[in-house]
Amino acid sequence: MKTSKKLLMILVAFAMVITFAACGNKTPSESSEAPASSSEAESQAEPAEKPAEGKSYDIGVAIYQYNDNFMTQYREELDKYFKELGEKNGVTYNVEFQDGKNDQATQTEQLNNFIAQGKDLIIANLVDPTGADQVINSAKQANIPVVLINREANTETMQIWPGKTTYVGVDARQSGIYQGDIIAALENKGDINGDGKVNYVMIMGDAGNVDAEQRTKYSVETLQKTIPAESLGEPQRGNWAQDKGQEIAANALSQYGKDVEVIFCNNDGMALGAKQAIDGAGRKVNEDIYLVGVDALPEVVELLGKGEFTGTVLNDYFNQAHTAAEVAVKLLAGNDVSSYYWHDYVKVLKPEDAELSRLDYKEESVEEYTKRIQEQYGDAAK
Ligand code: GAL
Repeated sequence: MKTSKKLLMILVAFAMVITFAACGNKTPSESSEAPASSSEAESQAEPAEKPAEGKSYDIGVAIYQYNDNFMTQYREELDKYFKELGEKNGVTYNVEFQDGKNDQATQTEQLNNFIAQGKDLIIANLVDPTGADQVINSAKQANIPVVLINREANTETMQIWPGKTTYVGVDARQSGIYQGDIIAALENKGDINGDGKVNYVMIMGDAGNVDAEQRTKYSVETLQKTIPAESLGEPQRGNWAQDKGQEIAANALSQYGKDVEVIFCNNDGMALGAKQAIDGAGRKVNEDIYLVGVDALPEVVELLGKGEFTGTVLNDYFNQAHTAAEVAVKLLAGNDVSSYYWHDYVKVLKPEDAELSRLDYKEESVEEYTKRIQEQYGDAAK
């Protein structure tokens, strides 16, 4: 037998042993132990045991892809903060990051490896959050708690293993509302040619992504409360990427010319591409066209300072990363946690608006979240 094949077989056998060991030794906590409300969750949130000094924990972090500006900021902050927490608590957090390369099959393999290696906890930024149920089921079998980040899964998934599964994030609807508000608050409400309506181009993130869906929906609905708004062509998917954003914006500008009054982008990466296209078409942001994004990337904040960008919305990676790590530490100490930990988006019109500081999070159970979404937006949480 070739050495490489032999090695592979040994590895597979080893992985199987570890998986069985993981299944056999630990009992997944029953769903009935899960907090029924956030007040209950709060009382449970105080770690029963702090991570014992001198202990060492293995954490697997699966990032949907490294080639993403926002997730790079997030990943670097998470890495840095785990190191800080480790030093503070006298604990070693061995954090292994993996690049899912925007391919679910690749990421599934990485997640299976984390499980086979018997990681103590998984942090997952899923390529395809619609398949999160499978990930949670596998992790539950091996009794490995999961912290989902950035890409929200549906509420059913969050009920598979309550207490040991959580989503740390921001409410995408809020970012869409802020984008709409930014345009609605302009003196001309975005209606540059004065015909009583706003013609816009929408550049979207990937399909099945809650951020892409909600930002698209709520930005337009919010603007329409102030002035009629019409899409020029169908919204198109730039999948969060700058080059795609540029291509879509350049095509729209050559097809619709001066009719384009606003370009909405689901994120700043694509908006930076749109800005290149706007420059290329000889147009001027805030003079004959408006441009909004989400994230508050440093390049966009700089453009805002120069008046060359209309507005963005801070996607607070700093607080999300810190909360994700702190919730992970609670789980590692054996506690049950809430289903959701939320931070706020922040409207950014000038550089100072994007300044970061550690802020409180808001905890919710699935029931509370569903109820709030219904009451606040008349929307059904999926
Ligand atoms: C969004 C962010 C995008 C991109 C995306 C990946 O929250 O605004 O820039 O990182 O997540 O899912």
